Amino acid sequence: MTSIDTRPALVHAPSGTDGEWWRHAVIYQVYPRSFADGSGDGIGDLPGITSRLPHLAELGVDAVWLSPFYRSPQADAGYDVADYRDVDPLFGTLDDFDALLLRAHDLGLRVIVDLVPNHTSDEHAWFQAAMAAGPGSPERERYLFREGQGETGELPPNNWESIFGGPAWTRVADGQWYLHLFDSRQPDLNWEHPEVRAEFEDVLRFWLDRGVDGFRIDVAHGMVKEPGLPDWDGHVSMIEGSDEPVAGNGNQGPMFDQDGVHEIYRAWNRVLAEYAGDRALVAEAWVEPLSRLARYVRPDEMQQAFNFAFLATLWDAPALRAVIEASYLTADSVGAPTTWVLSNHDVVRHASRLGLPVAGSRPNGIGHGDEQPDEELGLRRARAATLLMLGLPGSAYLYQGEELGLPDHTALPDELRQDPAFFRTGGAERGRDGCRVPLPWAADEPGFGFSPTGVTWLPQPASWASYALDAQRGVSGSTYETYCLALAVRRDEHLGTGGLAWADSYGDDVIAFENRDVLVVANLGSEPVGLPAGATVLASSTPVSGGILPGDATVWLRRP
Ligand code: NOJ
Repeated sequence: MTSIDTRPALVHAPSGTDGEWWRHAVIYQVYPRSFADGSGDGIGDLPGITSRLPHLAELGVDAVWLSPFYRSPQADAGYDVADYRDVDPLFGTLDDFDALLLRAHDLGLRVIVDLVPNHTSDEHAWFQAAMAAGPGSPERERYLFREGQGETGELPPNNWESIFGGPAWTRVADGQWYLHLFDSRQPDLNWEHPEVRAEFEDVLRFWLDRGVDGFRIDVAHGMVKEPGLPDWDGHVSMIEGSDEPVAGNGNQGPMFDQDGVHEIYRAWNRVLAEYAGDRALVAEAWVEPLSRLARYVRPDEMQQAFNFAFLATLWDAPALRAVIEASYLTADSVGAPTTWVLSNHDVVRHASRLGLPVAGSRPNGIGHGDEQPDEELGLRRARAATLLMLGLPGSAYLYQGEELGLPDHTALPDELRQDPAFFRTGGAERGRDGCRVPLPWAADEPGFGFSPTGVTWLPQPASWASYALDAQRGVSGSTYETYCLALAVRRDEHLGTGGLAWADSYGDDVIAFENRDVLVVANLGSEPVGLPAGATVLASSTPVSGGILPGDATVWLRRP
């Protein structure tokens, strides 16, 4: 057993407690089709969300981020928007949205909506007009149509590949090709076009006028492409401070992270500033190294950026310590809050990732026939990882269902899969459906209470009965009650605006730090560690007794 004592090394200084809300907020991601179904068709909807908002207030989060609910043919689960100013009938109506917002605000919850500006749906009026108008028309200028290469233009204009697999170009009947960094039903917009810029500023105002508190910006690093759309030479950048190439955490190449993208965010910052109150833009930018990511949150750009470097780090104390430290150094260099996230609708849930043989590795989905995670170990580590994350100053994102400790559905039959990434890779990648399964609210109800009819658009694993909210609520030590307690302590102790000073003499496998008056100790190893004598346990991921912290566990302590 390693013993203790500490010489704090300040990495990040505490700030006042009354800054803008987004500097310290815990923001809960709602994935509308899988949160709660009010209509009974098996697909979640806005009235369903509204009816369950008291759950989020009870949980103790500060804000809700809604993934897209706009009019869409759902080729990429709503990230293919056909009308940015309307609600898809699947999810309800604009009145339903207004009712949701009102209820959320009544409960003290802020609401962030998703904006998808890199691409539209192929059913968007602009793309339909571009297809009808033909080559050389002004309508085609709003997208990235090009002639092909080869004698008859039979080859794509360049060698770019879609993030979902296959070429990033699709040829239309008149012979031109259009660019789509994602599915062929998600044509990329031409952000050099003034009408595109004007349109999105107007869309921002449409939702700001309705009262939203901010926007999560989809593919924030992708809108501006290198002029001339050159072939990508395959060069990848290196992880901050090392000779290791970035291993897929950051999207690379001439289609990502171009300097020109920042002017868009400066303009949007000015749009938000026209509105009273604190509004926020959060960048979904898979950009490495962190110093490049920090450019998105300079004072005149966005307020936050997701910290995917943290999400992508393995269950390894030195690696996590390094990424935590780099996160503060880079965010602090531009005066932005650091953010933290472990799960979302695009990655295998952390309760499953952390149960894989390489704990924390990131397959794109897990299916039957694949190596299955160790569910118990994954949950134990997931709870420890969450307590580590929520003990850190900054803003944290939770993904719906993680407060229940949900694993992915890791044995979903292939014929039920819907993610375009599964189809575009010929099944080589299972895709993201496993983390998008409808939530279990009630252990004994059909569909675990997700919908009044018991219908669910994806099947839920039978084992989810024990994860249902009503099986955990009021049960001391359950994952749900652990989240509630941690969020309450975090709020009471002002950890979100606190500081981080390493307490570093617990051994290599332990991450220990002080945030205000709370000592956070996360033991990622298997050997138990001794805790300071007489310390009071404020929260823990697993029962702690006798002053000993077992492996794969995190504790929050108050020193005597
Ligand atoms: C990122 C979103 O989170 C993901 O779900 C979507 O498929 C792509 N962007 C394309 O919009």
